[in-house]
Amino acid sequence: MPTNSATKISKLAVVILAAGKGTRMKLPYSKVMAPLLGKKVIDFVIQAAMNFVKSHAQEFHIGVVVGHQKESIQDYLKNNSLIHFYEQKEQKGTADALKAFTQNTKFEYDHLLILCGDTPLLTENHFFAMWEKMQANPKENLAVLSTFDLSNPTGYGRVISTPSGLQIMEEKDATMEVKKVKRVNAGLYLLKKSLLKKLDEIKNTNLAHEFYLTDLFSQDPKVVEFCFEDAQNFLGINDMNQLNEAESVLKKRKIQNLRREGVYIQDESSTFIDWDVEIGAGSQIAPFTIIKGKTHVGEQVKIGPWNYLENVIIGNGCELHAHNHLVDSKVGENSQLGPYARLRPDCDLGSETKIGNFVELKKTKLGPKSKVPHLSYVGDATIGSKVNIGCGFVTCNYDGKNKHQTIIENNVFVGSDCQVVAPITLGEGSFVAAGSTITQSVGAGDFAVARTRQVNKVGLAKKFLEK
Ligand code: UD1
Ligand code: CA
Repeated sequence: MPTNSATKISKLAVVILAAGKGTRMKLPYSKVMAPLLGKKVIDFVIQAAMNFVKSHAQEFHIGVVVGHQKESIQDYLKNNSLIHFYEQKEQKGTADALKAFTQNTKFEYDHLLILCGDTPLLTENHFFAMWEKMQANPKENLAVLSTFDLSNPTGYGRVISTPSGLQIMEEKDATMEVKKVKRVNAGLYLLKKSLLKKLDEIKNTNLAHEFYLTDLFSQDPKVVEFCFEDAQNFLGINDMNQLNEAESVLKKRKIQNLRREGVYIQDESSTFIDWDVEIGAGSQIAPFTIIKGKTHVGEQVKIGPWNYLENVIIGNGCELHAHNHLVDSKVGENSQLGPYARLRPDCDLGSETKIGNFVELKKTKLGPKSKVPHLSYVGDATIGSKVNIGCGFVTCNYDGKNKHQTIIENNVFVGSDCQVVAPITLGEGSFVAAGSTITQSVGAGDFAVARTRQVNKVGLAKKFLEK
């Protein structure tokens, strides 16, 4: 997007209308809070607005008009100090929603960009195109109305050119003749503040008895039209099928962005990657993999097939074999996981560690080069470096009331089929013999064996086998 300070908007207010009920979504909460690729619908609208104001405005202010379910929206966005809320007490239409902003804001603006909270596919490029249109004749133009053409325009306001300017007719009020018009109002507007003088003149004398914002832009020769060609990006989320359509578009955008950054993603249709996930160059994602939340994957990592990752940090060069389930954890670089490894929350694995098949870890810190290769449960444990845990190991961390800690220091060797009853410590360089149930801590460098002694009876097998 080419720009320099001369073409910047000096004082820009952005208003996002999000007070409506969104009845067709049938959700117990506001539709702008519906889930979308690991985020919420409104996040995408705010992100686009943010990107635009940061590169194209000298001073800016972002307002969100809330009403229906306002608490949950305000609570969700409370950590973003650049968002200001305005309340529309009763949902009397889009013009009334805008008034909630214009009558209460203290920000001095010269231009106003109006967005709907339910159009998550728009980007700063759309807003920039409108700004360019405005600048094409800056003295004359008072507002830019965005439009696009639809073969099935049902539900949208239709835009008609008249000698005295554009005319917008809502579906409900349209005659049969007007309903045939394919050009629709996109619901995205850029205007100069002076046009707002007309806001108080808008009446609700229409079939819906609503105050239509569209009336502000009707029959005014200084309102110009910008017709977009990418109708699909103007999709509004009014029902669950549209939410799904939007998600498919964003999913594709995300995967294409990652590919541009050098990530190999074999099969787009079976790969689901949330919007905020980061993946380094040279990494490979095999099919049937889901990567969610704030996951960060380093460079040259191999993942999958069939992996589920949520809020995890994976270091460079790791290899995640098939069928792992990893949540809220960290894996150091060049480690190996799976197949069938499970990391429950709060695991922190050092570099070059190995977690093998059918191993479950919970709240466990594992030092560099340590290994838990087969069939084990390790919970509430701190394990040092270069520790080798044999097959079938269990930390008995729970006594029915409380969870207890296991500490295994550096260079410990634990044989196969051992249990340690926590709280317990295995000192540095100690050795636990296979088949032991360890109930007392083991000192550094000591050898522990805890199993009954074996008795061999010569020739007695026959007695049992012959039965
Ligand atoms: C609106 C336009 C229509 C356009 C379409 C594009 C009007 C009158 N019509 O219709 O011309 O083709 O968008 O998508 O503006 N809202 C409030 N308070 C209210 C009513 C609505 O905040 O009292 C908010 C909603 O939360 C929503 C936005 O305004 O984010 C648009 O409202 P919606 O009811 O979806 O308008 P449409 O019928 O889609
Ligand atoms: Ca809508």
